[in-house]
Amino acid sequence: MSFLKDRFAGFIGPEQKLGPLVRLFRANFRPYARRYAFALSMMVIAALATAGSAYIIKDIINKIFIDKDGALVFVIAGAIVFIYLVKGFATYFSSVTLTKIGNSMVARLQRQLYDAVLRQDIVFFQRHALGDIMVRISQNASAARAAIDLIVLSLGRDLFTLVSLVAVMVVQNPIMSGLSLLIAPPAIYGITHLLKKVRTAARKEVVTSAQIVTIVQESVQGIRVVKSFGLEDRLRAAFNVATGNVETLSNRIATLGARSSPLMETLGGLAIAFVVMFGGYQIVHYNADPGAFFSFITALLMAYEPAKRLARFNLDLEKALVGVRMMYEVLDEVPELQSAPDAVEAKFDSAAVTFDRVDFAYGEAPVLKGLSLTAPENSVVALVGPSGAGKSTVFSLVERFYDPTGGAVLVNGTDIRRFTVESLRRHVALVTQDTFLFDGSVAANIADGRPDASRAEIEAAARDANAYDFIMAMPDGFDSRVGEGGGNLSGGQRQRIAIARAILRQAPILLLDEATSALDAQAERDIQEALGRLMKGRTTFVIAHRLATVRDADIIYVMDKGEVVQKGNHEQLMAEGGLYAHLRALQFKDEKPDAVAAG
Ligand SMILES: Nc1ncnc2c1ncn2[C@@H]1O[C@H](COP(=O)(O)OP(=O)(O)OP(=O)(O)O)[C@@H](O)[C@H]1O
Ligand SMILES: [Mg+2]
Repeated sequence: MSFLKDRFAGFIGPEQKLGPLVRLFRANFRPYARRYAFALSMMVIAALATAGSAYIIKDIINKIFIDKDGALVFVIAGAIVFIYLVKGFATYFSSVTLTKIGNSMVARLQRQLYDAVLRQDIVFFQRHALGDIMVRISQNASAARAAIDLIVLSLGRDLFTLVSLVAVMVVQNPIMSGLSLLIAPPAIYGITHLLKKVRTAARKEVVTSAQIVTIVQESVQGIRVVKSFGLEDRLRAAFNVATGNVETLSNRIATLGARSSPLMETLGGLAIAFVVMFGGYQIVHYNADPGAFFSFITALLMAYEPAKRLARFNLDLEKALVGVRMMYEVLDEVPELQSAPDAVEAKFDSAAVTFDRVDFAYGEAPVLKGLSLTAPENSVVALVGPSGAGKSTVFSLVERFYDPTGGAVLVNGTDIRRFTVESLRRHVALVTQDTFLFDGSVAANIADGRPDASRAEIEAAARDANAYDFIMAMPDGFDSRVGEGGGNLSGGQRQRIAIARAILRQAPILLLDEATSALDAQAERDIQEALGRLMKGRTTFVIAHRLATVRDADIIYVMDKGEVVQKGNHEQLMAEGGLYAHLRALQFKDEKPDAVAAG
């Protein structure tokens, strides 16, 4: 699993206990304060009713069994019905209120988490596996809710119940009460011991379940590759390891948690046995009040469950806090690439784009080395060069997915880092090498280019992208679903929809990364012509291997290993020889004679 591990490692930070809890309460208690107050008051009532049901045992024993007072039977029976009725309704209201608060809190936190993820820069998404992000959004919000629920329930229900029952015990028999509290210190000591182990195991468990999600997701997305290369065994093996790990960790957490039971049961049994001995002795030898004794025993037995839960409280809280901490790791993650504090809104109708001695590296190895190029206003600039030369990287820098490590990218003479990121991107339309469509209608996907576009504009964009005819041939026309990732369409059709989306954007800077690579010669020529129309009045960068696409460019930059090695128009570069002529010569062999003739 090592191939996954490093992608999950980035988040794991120092552990602190109270910090995240205090934050969680600060941020999430206030909006629900009134409803919490109501739920808590209901819990107090339920706790008092419980105590009442223990207290009344004294009268049952003394008045009915010993005094044989017939009239009181009905009064006591009525009181019992009343107590349980109150307890039932109070419990109902408190649990409904808490559930609603919890559900609302999960929704709120998930929205915050999703926002925090969307806010991140591209680097974040390369660093973190999808499964990790998904698990954090889906599970951590619930963990936060569990933590708050646990605290409210423990402090509210269990603590109030325990306190009221102890009050009954003290009233009925103060000495025995004091003696039975002696079990508390060993219980607390034993539980604290288990805590640290649970914490470590719980975090590992979350990380490992994220790996499961990632494997499933990659298998589904890459199912064609999986089937055709027979990768089932490899994936199954990785999946078995991940599920096995979760199984082991879950067992470990459960075992650690359950270890509190033998401890608590033994201590509880000791306390009860002791009380029976001591109380029996008092009754036998000193003729003590038997009703008080039974009431005490009842209260003690009833106190046992909430006391046990309170003892486990820390253990359960620890598990939930693991999720809370992981949630804050996402919420606190500050994207490196952000708008500068004094950034201005970009506003231009046409753009001259300049790369001024730009250096860039994704990691250690330099990808762009002092790259300089210029695209004058409303020009068409082609980038050509061997695979890995850095062409797509140039586009990423124009979009400001990354910042250069040296030099600057300028638009109309202004460093693009001076603009707010959002406003810059509004001025750029991108067709990527790997087109991505969202599951939804064709029209909705095109409209992503400009959400306020009218249906007529969407259709016009489709026409310009040479996509209109095939869209109309689909069963529901523009309302046909493209499927997840555009899976219902061919590669060339997806590409034309992506081009239509970019056309609709009407941005002054247009970036086309091999936008016509998946098209046949006819479709490419149609698109070429459409792009010709589209490129008017905007600055266009094209990355293309095909001669036809590049031939009409105003300037061609030939890139190799992150540098511009040649510059000029087609005729100049052909005359010059060098890499361009070499690449062309290679292509002449593959391209159909008519395509060459067209060039
Ligand atoms: N996200 C990334 N992280 C790390 N390295 C990357 C990343 N993207 C690209 N590279 C590296 O940067 C170099 C340039 O990549 P780029 O995608 O810009 O090439 P390209 O010219 O577009 O190639 P192609 O014609 O094959 O699309 C390559 O060596 C590549 O390995
Ligand atoms: Mg590329």
